[in-house]
Amino acid sequence: MILVTGGAGFIGANFVLDWLAQCDEPVVNLDKLTYAGNLENLTSLQGDARHVFVQGDIGDASLVAQLLTQHRPRAVINFAAESHVDRSIHGPGDFIQTNIVGTFHLLEAVRAYWGGLQGAQKDAFRLLHVSTDEVYGSLGPGDAAFTETHRVEPNSPYSASKAASDHLVRAYHHTYGLPVLTTNCSNNYGPFHFPEKLIPLMIVNALAGKPLPVYGDGMQIRDWLYVKDHCSAIRRVLEGGRLGEIYNVGGWNEKPNIEIVNTVCALLDELRPRADGQPYASQISYVKDRPGHDRRYAIDARKLEAELGWKPAETFESGIRKTVMWYLDHADWVEHVQSGAYREWVGLQYASPSA
Ligand code: NAD
Ligand code: DAU
Repeated sequence: MILVTGGAGFIGANFVLDWLAQCDEPVVNLDKLTYAGNLENLTSLQGDARHVFVQGDIGDASLVAQLLTQHRPRAVINFAAESHVDRSIHGPGDFIQTNIVGTFHLLEAVRAYWGGLQGAQKDAFRLLHVSTDEVYGSLGPGDAAFTETHRVEPNSPYSASKAASDHLVRAYHHTYGLPVLTTNCSNNYGPFHFPEKLIPLMIVNALAGKPLPVYGDGMQIRDWLYVKDHCSAIRRVLEGGRLGEIYNVGGWNEKPNIEIVNTVCALLDELRPRADGQPYASQISYVKDRPGHDRRYAIDARKLEAELGWKPAETFESGIRKTVMWYLDHADWVEHVQSGAYREWVGLQYASPSA
């Protein structure tokens, strides 16, 4: 079996769902259930014995040690993190605690477990750490996309905390020989994306008749990847990645934010036109910029393609259409997240050990 951390969040939940749709290898899912963790993302696994949910903190070394001893996973995949840049600007403390201190405790527990494995089990074990392109900092308009050897220059408390965790993971490989893999991925989008992030926020605000807040001039560039393509890249790296290596993951989809917002608006105009016949783009509102806002990210994913044959399955056009349709079809999920009702549901759900 595998141990996934942060598997009730956006990418982690997509990963667990895809994993169990493709194989029967069980998943132990350790998640603290912060505001971003939502067991409703995993409702379809209710009663599925292949999924064992445990509420807990990656920084709780004794809990992690107990889970490792009890379940003896062949791999640990670390998604758990505080992930929202704006929140890190308002309050960096939780980011330092989970992304740096939490990763350190996780590494210590995994090192002790791996140290006790023998022979083939020890050779086969992997720790895959899920990280971000934001650790590389910001690109100028004509700069080449980030490769794995690009200098690490994080600019926000979030990206600095992720960079620190990447360094710890690297150090545990070089110092202790821990069999690690790190992936640095660009901006994801897709089902179960918490509506504090750009794309889901634009969809839910548009439908609610609220302003669509675009920071600054809206010309900041992000490189977008459909979440299920990120999940397939992680599976590929887990299977065939070289130990101690970093693999950049991206879809070659650089777009300015304003273009993303206009695309979402155009899809909503087509799929759910406003009652008054006006375009959703009329709700766009330019607001104060994010402090220290990175201007451009772009990922060079050629290493992953050349070494492991990975390519994204979705184009931006197909992925964004699927995403908008998912939000239109899951008004209950949005309503529960916004009202906080999912927290009550979590209380009920957490009474049983498996989701
Ligand atoms: P998310 O905020 O949606 O989910 C994070 C999950 O981690 C939540 O379920 C939360 O409850 C859990 N968690 C937080 N602190 C924890 C702790 N101390 N112990 C256990 N669980 C904890 O984040 P996401 O967007 O799904 O991102 C997942 C990972 O992928 C993160 O490491 C993030 O840095 C990385 N990443 C995200 C993106 C993106 O575009 N969203 C892109 C590249 C990399
Ligand atoms: O690049 C990978 C990163 O992508 C991940 O590591 C992070 O976890 C993830 O949150 C994401 O970070 P961003 O800051 O790029 O994502 P966000 O959705 O917050 O913002 C995307 C862009 O849109 C960014 O340039 C800021 C802008 N924005 C965002 C919001 C929420 C707006 O203009 N208006 C908004 O209301």
